[in-house]
Amino acid sequence: MELGLRGKIAIITGGSAGLGLASACELAKEGCHVVICARNPERLLSAKKDIEQIANSKVLTIQADVSSFSDNKKIVKEVVDHFGAVHILLSNAGISLTKNFLDLEINDWKELMDLNLYAGVQLCKEVIPHMQRQKWGRIIFTGSTSIKQPREKRSVANVTKSTLLNFMKSIANEFVLDGILVNMISPGRFDTHWQDRIEAMSLETGKSTDEIYSEVIKDIKIGRLGKPEEFAAAVAFLASERASFITGTNIQVDGGELRGV
Ligand SMILES: NC(=O)c1ccc[n+]([C@@H]2O[C@H](COP(=O)([O-])OP(=O)(O)OC[C@H]3O[C@@H](n4cnc5c(N)ncnc54)[C@H](OP(=O)(O)O)[C@@H]3O)[C@@H](O)[C@H]2O)c1
Repeated sequence: MELGLRGKIAIITGGSAGLGLASACELAKEGCHVVICARNPERLLSAKKDIEQIANSKVLTIQADVSSFSDNKKIVKEVVDHFGAVHILLSNAGISLTKNFLDLEINDWKELMDLNLYAGVQLCKEVIPHMQRQKWGRIIFTGSTSIKQPREKRSVANVTKSTLLNFMKSIANEFVLDGILVNMISPGRFDTHWQDRIEAMSLETGKSTDEIYSEVIKDIKIGRLGKPEEFAAAVAFLASERASFITGTNIQVDGGELRGV
């Protein structure tokens, strides 16, 4: 399927690892000029080399903390100065924090709001005027299935991602006539951190990693964790010309975990 992505300029936050890196790779393979942003310079450089090797295309890296207002301004300015345009934003950098509610400090809430919510808000404020001028844009947020089924001990992440969903729908309405389509992709359990978590849970409980793995995947109908490239395929589709009638929606990529919820 021709996705019509050749030559498009795509910013991917959290593009140096996990779902963001896989998405950057996929978009680069489809002919996009990709810009990956993250904090750790070594990981950025290594991701850049990987993408350039796999996709045979040049990658721009921007070291930035997307929790910071000034860094978000810097990202978009640098991209526009370099390429003269920005067509696609994948606002993906985010974390979850596993803590009982009573152990959470107010700063935990503020930090996660800054990263999981305000980063996307600020980046939209910066990219949308450029997308309006060219009458074309795609904005995709990485959500989570915790929006529909809150995960245990993750109240902050659950709340930030649900709020992000509402923000996504609000701006999807507001900018639809400017040719800007805004959507969310909500991953279930992916093989990025889960292997580390499974080892930690095994040490904590004394159960074998195989036993823990079976428990972790028990509700995933496909019977395994997701692979980052399976998330990336959905990103490439939503970013493409082929998704021209889809906006304001949240697509779950979760191996059937939340069927019917
Ligand atoms: N993996 C899953 O199973 C799963 C499930 C549900 C939702 N999600 C969501 O999917 C997204 C990606 O998750 P992942 O598992 O791919 O994460 P990951 O493997 O930990 O990668 C996170 C990426 O974000 C960057 N990052 C983190 N904090 C940042 C900051 N303040 N500023 C800029 N970059 C930052 C990291 O690089 P640096 O550390 O160098 O900055 C890295 O590139 C997140 O929004 C997460 O909530 C994932």
